[in-house]
Amino acid sequence: MPTSTEERLIRPARNIYGSLRLPGDKSISHRYAMLGAFAEGTSRFFNFSTGADCASTLACMAALGANISEINDGTIEVTGVSGRVTPSNHPLDCGNSGSTMRMISGLLAPQLGSFTLIGDASLSRRPMERIRKPLETMGARLSLTEGHAPLTITGTALQPIDYATPVPSAQIKTCLLLAGLQTAGTTTVRETVRTRDHSELALRAFGATLTRTLDSVSITGRQSLHAIDASVPGDISSAAFFLCAAALFPGSNLLLDSIGLNPTRAALLDVLTTLGAHIAVLNLEEKNAELVGTVQITAPPQGLGTVEVSGALAAQLIDELPVLAAIGPYTSGGIRIRDARELRVKESDRISLVVKNLRAMGAEVEEFEDGLDVPGGQSLHGATIDSGGDHRIAMAFSVAALRAEGDTLIHGAESAAISFPEFFNLLDLVAER
Ligand code: S3P
Repeated sequence: MPTSTEERLIRPARNIYGSLRLPGDKSISHRYAMLGAFAEGTSRFFNFSTGADCASTLACMAALGANISEINDGTIEVTGVSGRVTPSNHPLDCGNSGSTMRMISGLLAPQLGSFTLIGDASLSRRPMERIRKPLETMGARLSLTEGHAPLTITGTALQPIDYATPVPSAQIKTCLLLAGLQTAGTTTVRETVRTRDHSELALRAFGATLTRTLDSVSITGRQSLHAIDASVPGDISSAAFFLCAAALFPGSNLLLDSIGLNPTRAALLDVLTTLGAHIAVLNLEEKNAELVGTVQITAPPQGLGTVEVSGALAAQLIDELPVLAAIGPYTSGGIRIRDARELRVKESDRISLVVKNLRAMGAEVEEFEDGLDVPGGQSLHGATIDSGGDHRIAMAFSVAALRAEGDTLIHGAESAAISFPEFFNLLDLVAER
């Protein structure tokens, strides 16, 4: 976890050009780490996420008895606990990572022993009732601190449930699937919007059986997991910053190698295409049921058009919305975002920080409870950006800064390391100045 705050100066660019290979997907890395640590045997994960969030998951799983080592750059070896964790004497520190806290809670609720989960200031403000309610319905014993972390779990045998998630959340779904994996009977999670399905795919890769319909997933306990070797696809949510940057410059040409293109994650490619960018996907292949391919993007000579992101699309693009909003002023027709209230309870209130920082750069923008309207045809000037310690805000405004008049100073730039420590170096590699 970064502890000090850093500033980064971002100079405008003339073009984005080159090719990059990105570190492994954060969502998939969390799941491989948790399942590998819970499984029987030794797993090896290549191109594992380099972000601090996944390091939090690895540290928690090590504290619970898994044997974890980095065998070389980007390769993690995990020897699992064969379905039975060791309670730790110390609180499990989830750092900044909501995924770690919510998903591990489901894994631990049916285990023997007592566990305390803590997080940093941002994570300690984020809602945890969303996992407490369904886990308690399963019979779990869980206590929160005014709806938030610190969170204490006293493990006990659970009963299965059939649960419809009130907000679209892959984290809630995963939490319940991990509890259901260890619970006799069939646990079903229903969702009105299909959220990212990495847990379903990963559970199957580790040997579990699940059944899926269009809007539900069921798991029957008790099943055991077996170690795998797997390569983690490049992170499409990290790629989003480079794709949006390239989309801003007619004449750009950017190739991103081995990016995860799971259909529940790849909606950004459709949105950028709607905006007018030219996108080609090359060498598409499947690895442990995850789609992986090389993405090439070039920007349209006439500039970007307009797009609305609402309904199911808003949920599927939730992590990419800050950077989409940040490039909105440079489109011709603007970007309209709705049905994205969840943005307010991410690592920061991402709606209000995007609005604040766009205004700091001289943009006109209208804020709504569940989104924002960013009119197009605007030019921005360099400004001082408040990242709020939120990695996606720091990176989104580094992208907006590339087309601004004058330099931009990103406060709290170190937060990029939560998901993407290499971000600023790679940006310097492809930004022509
Ligand atoms: C994630 C799910 C999303 C996303 C987060 C990672 C995951 O959160 O915003 O960055 O890995 O399952 P929610 O499921 O709470 O929407």
